[in-house]
Amino acid sequence: MNNSIWRKKPMHMFEQDMQKSELKRVLGKWSLTAIGIGAIIGGGVFVLTGTAAHYHAGPALAISFVIAGIGCIFAALCYAEFAAMLPVEGSAYAYAYGTVGELFAWIIGWGLILEYAMGAMTVAVSWSGYFNKLLHLFGVHLPENLTNDPVSFGGASVNLPALVIVWFVTWILVKGIKEAASANNMIVVLKVAVILFVIIMGAFYIDVANWTPFIPEETLVQHESGEMLPAYGWGGIISGASAIFFAYIGFDAVSTQAGEAINPKKDMPFAIIASLLICTVLYIAVSLVLTGMINYKNITGDALKAPVAYAFDVAGQPWAVFVITAAATAGLLSVMLVMMLGQTRVFLGMAKDGLLPKFFAEVHPTFKTPWKSTILVGAVVSIVAGFTPISLLGDMTSFGTLFAFTMVCLAVWILRFRDPNRERPFKVSGLNIVAPLGILVNTFLILNLGRTAQLFALAWLVFGLVVYFLYGRPKSHLNTRV
Ligand code: ALA
Repeated sequence: MNNSIWRKKPMHMFEQDMQKSELKRVLGKWSLTAIGIGAIIGGGVFVLTGTAAHYHAGPALAISFVIAGIGCIFAALCYAEFAAMLPVEGSAYAYAYGTVGELFAWIIGWGLILEYAMGAMTVAVSWSGYFNKLLHLFGVHLPENLTNDPVSFGGASVNLPALVIVWFVTWILVKGIKEAASANNMIVVLKVAVILFVIIMGAFYIDVANWTPFIPEETLVQHESGEMLPAYGWGGIISGASAIFFAYIGFDAVSTQAGEAINPKKDMPFAIIASLLICTVLYIAVSLVLTGMINYKNITGDALKAPVAYAFDVAGQPWAVFVITAAATAGLLSVMLVMMLGQTRVFLGMAKDGLLPKFFAEVHPTFKTPWKSTILVGAVVSIVAGFTPISLLGDMTSFGTLFAFTMVCLAVWILRFRDPNRERPFKVSGLNIVAPLGILVNTFLILNLGRTAQLFALAWLVFGLVVYFLYGRPKSHLNTRV
């Protein structure tokens, strides 16, 4: 028996698992692309653009989006090569298990929990914010103690909309991937339509004076905490890229659906890259329109919570505020859907390999979904979302994602040397440049995240190592299966 932490899951085991898979293969290339877009466009573009323009980049926010987009495209290409080679559920975790080794795979899987579960929590709380705003537009005001976590409220309270919406998403996910995919497709159409509306309609309200100078001179800006921090110039553009990275998270979630794709070898690379490119173009356009419509210096106070809606308010188009708020509310729903879907599929992959209890791999006889783990994930996400202030979670989500991206670039690169002759249905050209650049850019963005989030995320990874040595390693199927 090979006990090394570097032991790998042999390819024939992946193939056996794929043949045995009980999941239904129902997703085509556009459904997969919609899953990517569904996970990408969310709170990031609707909320973080304001913060990033005001505190970091000014009108040059568009350049921050280009930089973060470049970091993602390196990772996306590597994901695509992997996903086509090993189209199994479990995403980056599975790829690393087949190539680099068990411990490496475990750490990635553990990092992906940060990305998907915490991402779902963060988005649930943002959703609650948008939902309340929507209710306000209709004159309905829920009591403060039912819309805030106890810490923010300063007494007994619960963020009820966040808690309830997670159960709604859980219910859709338990019922089935097909239902989830069609709900997702509808929301994605709506979301893209509203983003296009913002770009086209907003273009008429651009005042080029707001873009001058496009890269403001570097200076100190007071943050909400009272701290004076450097902003603007090229330094601000880079820190802006870290700040809006969250907006790009999600294209990798496509790769968790490989077990449900009709033709994964061709369609996974297509969907990963297409969803990222479509969103990058939309994001750059939105950031140009936003910083053209309003002066970045004026995005303060409440405007920071909903900058896109604020820009249309300033333009004297209050009905547009309603359209944007409604679309953001629906749009965030699909981000949650895909994040929770991704989480359960990563668990499924890990449980099938014995690294997590069988519970996580039990598939419902009729719905054909991993229903038990879906309900467990729903319970945890809803409780945390209902009772915790979420300021940290966004950065921790980015940490988990950037970490997984870095590892995927590394693993794909290693595999090219170790197994150069393997069949690669999608082969990245210039990988010797793409992979190291991906590693560099993503690591650099990790180093630019908030300090507290970095420490929490590291603590989470260390905790993961303890669980691996106490549970995963002794229970791994590689101990018995050959
Ligand atoms: N990219 C997703 C969002 O912005 C996580 O909400």
